[in-house]
Amino acid sequence: MDDLSNRRILLIDDTPSIHDDFRKILTPPAADANSLDDLEAQLFGAQAKPRQQPFELDSAYGGQEGLNKVCQALEQQRPYALAFVDMRMPQGWDGAQTIERLWQEDPRLQVVVCTAYSDYSWEDLLERLQGHNRLLILKKPFDNIEVQQMASTLTSKWEMTARALLQMHHLEDLVEQRTEDLRQAGAALQQEIDERKQLENQLVQSEKLASLGQLAAGVAHEINNPIGFVASNLGSLAGYLEQISQLLTAYRQSEEAIAAPELRKRLQSLRESIDLDFLQEDIPLLIKESKDGIGRVEQIVKDLKNFSRVDSDQHWQMADLQQGIDSTLNIVASELKYKADLIKHYQPLPEIECLPSQLNQVVMNLVINAAQAIGPERGTITLSNGVAGDRVWLEVSDSGCGIDEQHLQKIFDPFFTTKPVGQGTGLGLSLSYGIVKKHGGQISVRSQLGVGSTFRVELPIRQGPHRPDPA
Ligand SMILES: Nc1ncnc2c1ncn2[C@@H]1O[C@H](COP(=O)(O)OP(=O)(O)OP(=O)(O)O)[C@@H](O)[C@H]1O
Ligand SMILES: [Mg+2]
Repeated sequence: MDDLSNRRILLIDDTPSIHDDFRKILTPPAADANSLDDLEAQLFGAQAKPRQQPFELDSAYGGQEGLNKVCQALEQQRPYALAFVDMRMPQGWDGAQTIERLWQEDPRLQVVVCTAYSDYSWEDLLERLQGHNRLLILKKPFDNIEVQQMASTLTSKWEMTARALLQMHHLEDLVEQRTEDLRQAGAALQQEIDERKQLENQLVQSEKLASLGQLAAGVAHEINNPIGFVASNLGSLAGYLEQISQLLTAYRQSEEAIAAPELRKRLQSLRESIDLDFLQEDIPLLIKESKDGIGRVEQIVKDLKNFSRVDSDQHWQMADLQQGIDSTLNIVASELKYKADLIKHYQPLPEIECLPSQLNQVVMNLVINAAQAIGPERGTITLSNGVAGDRVWLEVSDSGCGIDEQHLQKIFDPFFTTKPVGQGTGLGLSLSYGIVKKHGGQISVRSQLGVGSTFRVELPIRQGPHRPDPA
């Protein structure tokens, strides 16, 4: 027996004698029935019949009382399976009204209408109650076995309906659970696909950057040699020209001593036509400017090599962050020149354990973003750095457009860009984020729309024992 078995019956009838009759029919004293069965088993050797669970009969003498009992039973979670309802009850609600109210409270209740005479035609009653599948009619005077059978069949029907309902809920739960599992599996798969796509794209991007860096370093290396001899030749040339100039001055001073007037005149007019004074003055200046120019090219080459750090082969190493920042600024100088003034608030930094070329990429991304955030009016980009405990920090501030509140959450996402197609791929910050994380550091942003933004990078001075693979 489980808790779906329900043999509870309510009789609603205003005639007390009917209640006695029902009691006799439905709840005979247990001993009688059982002892007869046992006797039969003993006499004829038949197996004792499985005993039916007895009915539990409650009485109500009017519709309202019946409804109260049904509500009470529901509250106690012991609903009735079946109600016998008298159709004609002159006091209070009649049978039809009672049944209507009962079903409003408990739609599962099976109902038998008991009647000798009805104020309604059966068609009207069925039409009104709309409960064709829960309603039987028992005409008075009734037959005992008919009442017993109805009670038996309808309580079983209640039980089966309850069981089917439970099963259905169970199945629905199962389907819901499976659907949810499938949905989650689908979402996890989609997330994995997205992550893979992002990783692939990041890989492509960083490979592109790495090969660009290699190219730059290769070109720098090639340029290095010719620049070396041009610089050294310029040095020699300056010395030679100085000597020649001294010689020319000596010649000029001895010009007056030349005896042949014609030769003297020719030399004089030649000197005036080439403006020897000016040449002697200008040549050292030209040489100096050329030396300066070559010096600058040498610096750019050095910065390029430093920036790409191909020499260092992407190893974790102790490196000077400041030097990396300055080289990177030199590389992007042409981007900044016409847009912003650069302000530096530097403090001496210790060398940090890092992948220098990757950190240079971060600085470059931040500085270029800062420059791009500055509108047509000239702005400022401020670089500050410092040490805090066992970490160093670097801030890149700009007086640019600032970042919309709703974008702040997304700027580190791969491919998030507010720049026109062709100008931004939306990978700069996401790559930078990855690099800083790889260093066990943090990158954060403060921004005010229309005022500017500050990106802050914090990096540990030393890596822990589990520093990741540079790649
Ligand atoms: N300094 C800044 N000021 C204002 N907005 C910024 C700043 N830095 C980043 N952003 C915003 O964050 C977005 C993402 O930046 P991110 O560097 O990742 O990509 P991008 O600059 O658009 O493209 P890419 O760097 O690939 O060329 C930018 O499109 C911009 O909207
Ligand atoms: Mg960018």
